[in-house]
Formats: sequence, structure tokens, C-alpha cells
Amino acid sequence: MKAVCWYGADDLRVEQVPEPRVVNPRDAIVRVSSAAICGSDLHMFDGYAPGMGKGDILGHEVIGEVVQVGEGLTGIRPGDRVVAAFAIACGRCAYCQQGLFSLCDNSNPNAALAEQAFGHSPAGMLGYTHLTGGYAGGQAEYVRIPYADVGLLKVPGNLRDEQLLPLADVLPTGYQAAEQCNIQPGDTVAVWGCGPVGQMAIKSAYLLGAERVISIDRLPERLAMAREQGGAETIHFEQTDVLDALKEMTAGRGPDACIEAVGMEATGGTLDALIDRAKQAVRMETGRPHALRQAIMACRKGGTISLPGVYVGMIDMVPMGAAFNKGLTFRMGQTNVQKYWHGLLERIVSGELDASYLFTHHIPLDNALDAYRMFRDKREGVVKIILKPRAAAVGSEQRPSHELAMENLRSTPSQAEGERATVEEDLRQRGLSAEGAQMRTAEMSPPEGDMEGPELPSQAEGDRDTVDDDLAEKGAGI
Ligand SMILES: NC(=O)c1ccc[n+]([C@@H]2O[C@H](COP(=O)([O-])OP(=O)(O)OC[C@H]3O[C@@H](n4cnc5c(N)ncnc54)[C@H](O)[C@@H]3O)[C@@H](O)[C@H]2O)c1
Ligand SMILES: [Zn+2]
Ligand SMILES: [Zn+2]
Repeated sequence: MKAVCWYGADDLRVEQVPEPRVVNPRDAIVRVSSAAICGSDLHMFDGYAPGMGKGDILGHEVIGEVVQVGEGLTGIRPGDRVVAAFAIACGRCAYCQQGLFSLCDNSNPNAALAEQAFGHSPAGMLGYTHLTGGYAGGQAEYVRIPYADVGLLKVPGNLRDEQLLPLADVLPTGYQAAEQCNIQPGDTVAVWGCGPVGQMAIKSAYLLGAERVISIDRLPERLAMAREQGGAETIHFEQTDVLDALKEMTAGRGPDACIEAVGMEATGGTLDALIDRAKQAVRMETGRPHALRQAIMACRKGGTISLPGVYVGMIDMVPMGAAFNKGLTFRMGQTNVQKYWHGLLERIVSGELDASYLFTHHIPLDNALDAYRMFRDKREGVVKIILKPRAAAVGSEQRPSHELAMENLRSTPSQAEGERATVEEDLRQRGLSAEGAQMRTAEMSPPEGDMEGPELPSQAEGDRDTVDDDLAEKGAGI
């Protein structure tokens, strides 16, 4: 099959690779009809995400049709139209049980690596770095979804891919970002970044009761989208002093909550932003937190900083004194997609939410490198790109609505089953998922020295020993 494979900064190749197959009982194979490019993919494309291997398949925002399922899967059948969550979650560990799916204890076969970097391991993630499992992604004709009863959402056939694909990531991400703000009636929320995540944060902040949303960016088409589709007031950060403007717009108080939807590749013309750029270039700093600094300085006393923007390592000159003395609350993290997607799907089906306006470009998968460059450079008014694995698939996503009864939409089999996995079963699943984390096994594993960043366990070895040791140490991790 064709897939978008990572080879380094600014180096992606659409290659023929082996098709994925079911390797674990709860796996499903999905034939991809549309896969989006995300701001998070840029961190890998720009070479800032550690733990990538040459040949890794990118992509974590996927919609398509189930074509094959493992024997342990309930509730998902071949023929189902599904959206995949980017966070891979078992549905049964203590974190999953609390709805903290992106912190799943069981889905990262490279947990030991992540523990070195973060102290503890987050969930495994689709099409992301080996720090989060090195799972083959979905910018491809087919993708394997582990724990598919938790990782796939059945969606109705009568809506377009563009209406449903935001459920894979950016819509729940914007929603979680707004929910983290604990919005009260009358609140003003400021949102840095008018990319897809920022746009969804604007919508969600209003859904959750914000009185005013003020959004900040420098790209005119994105600011226009924030105004016209989101109903936000806007600030152009290159034309206006953001801190002065926010003070003025809030009668000196500052916004009640600040959502930073930019992350570690913020741009800016001020001295701190220029120093960040120089330091990041020589790997003295892993992120450029210019927007985060601004959000902390702008936020009102006692307010909340909510961070959907991604950071992977160390950042400098964060005004901790301001945060401390203003008594700010920080909320952040990878999104618990599965916690939000049922409710958000209902809003989409009812017509209350339609985020399809985000998708400004449809590009054949074969042209992925051009698409990534366009998205990175924000050329041609791009906001979000859908990659189409098959030219014939364009326009084919409309299906009769009777194909899916709405009453099925709330079924999450793993939670409905209610029971916790036994240690034995969990061991089996973790061992197996470690074995099959990346479909591109023995013949595809890169030669020594090919990896970027730290030495990574090869997928051919299956990382089984590490995972087993790790499990033994932790009493199976549950
Ligand atoms: N938490 C999660 O689970 C999660 C999920 C998806 C994406 N993300 C992250 O969210 C961030 C945004 O993603 P996206 O897809 O919207 O990306 P994007 O690249 O399309 O958008 C980023 C926007 O930020 C703007 N920007 C840059 N510097 C700025 C500054 N100083 N002030 C204000 N705006 C600035 C850019 O002009 C751009 O419009 C990324 O870091 C991405 O990795 C996180
Ligand atoms: Zn994404
Ligand atoms: Zn879990």
C-alpha cells in the first residue's frame, strides 16, 4: 500500500509498504478514506520531535471503513464507517477508567523510553514518535488500530468526511482546552493561535458559556475565520501589542482564561522569540514558548492557562514569578479524545456543530510532501489539509443514513463490559501490543545509526523484554 513515510526534517516520501494486518485480538484494520495533516505532524516534519525512525508512517487523524477485525473485538465490524482517536487507549487501566485516555498505562510499548524523558509514560499514539510507541500512522491506504473497541468511533454514513474527521483530534482538543478553563458566565477567554486547534477552542469556549473570545494570530485568513466562523474578536500580533490590547479590551483586568494553541513552534518578533529561535536551532532549547510567556503575562490574577499546544522537552524563560504571584492555574496535556467524542458527535449529527470549514485543501496522498510544505509555510490560505489515499475516494464518502443506527453511537464496549482486565490478560495484551506496535517489522526496521535522537529499540525485537521487565517491576502496571 501507499503511505507517507518520515525520513527527516523536510523529508517525507510516499512509499509502497506492507499492508498492516491484525496482530492482536482487539485490532481493527481500517481502509482510510481521508487523513488530515495536523500541527502536531509539523513538529516531526520540522525535526523537533525526538524519537523518530526513518521510514515511520505519519498520520493520526483518520476516517475510513473497517475491513478486518481481530477475534477479541466486540462492537466493531467490517463495513463500519469509523473515526480513529489519535491517542491509543486500552479502556481498562485506572487512567482510562477515569476518562484520561491519553494517559493510558497499557498502550505504549516503549514506556521505558518515555519514562526516561517524562518520568512516566503517556499513552501510545498513532503515527507519532517512538517515545509514544512508534505506531504506524494513518496517512496511508490502510492503518491498524489497536484496542479498536476504544480507539474507533462509529459514525453515520450521511455526513461528509469533512464533518466527522475533526472528531479524531482537533475538535476534542479544542473542547478539552476550553473545558480546562472552567469557564463561568461572563468570562473572557483569549486564544493564542488560530490554527485548527485554536478555531475549535474558540467554538468550544462559546459552547461552554464564554461571553467573549479574543483570538490572536498573524495570518489574515485565519483571523478572518476566527471572526466569521467562530465569532471571536481578533488581534494581529505583528500589528498590535498583544498585552496592551488585551488589557485595554478587558478594562485592565486581563482575560479570565488563556488558551495557548500554538505550542513549541511559536513565532514572534520580540527579543525572547528571536533568542528561542537561535537556541532551538542549536538544540539548546526544544521549544519556542513565546506564546506561552505572553499568555502567562496577559492572564488575570487567579486565572487559568490552558495548553493544548504541544511541548516535548525543555523551554526557557517561562515567567514563573508572574504565574506564581498571580496565582494562576495550569491545565494541559494530550487530548483524551474518547472522553469527548460521543457528545461532540451528537452535536455534529444534530447540526449544532459543523467544523468542515477548517478543511481548505484536499490533496492526493501522493503529493504529501507538497501538502506538508504548504501547511508548514501557511501558503495559499491553508488552514487544514485532507490527504486522499485514493483519487476515486473524493466525494465517495456520502452513504445512506440507515447504515448506522444512532443508538449505537454511545456504545463503548470496553467500558460497557465493566470488568477490569485481569493481570494475565493485560500482560498478554501489553506483550502483544509491544510485539506489533509498528507494522513495519523485521524487513522494514532501519539500519543502525539511522534513527534521529536517542537509540530506539528496534520494532523487530518487539521490545518485548523491556515491556515484560517493566511490567514485572510495576506489578503489571495496573
Ligand atoms: N493537546 C493535544 O492533544 C493536541 C492535539 C492537536 C494539536 N495539538 C497542538 O496544538 C498546536 C496547534 O495545532 P494546529 O493544528 O492548530 O497548528 P497550526 O500550525 O495550523 O496553527 C498554529 C497557529 O499558531 C499561530 N502562531 C504562531 N506563533 C504565534 C504567536 N506567537 N501568537 C499567536 N499565534 C501564533 C500560527 O500563525 C498558526 O496559525 C500545535 O502545537 C499542535 O501540536 C495538540
Ligand atoms: Zn492532530
Ligand atoms: Zn488504559
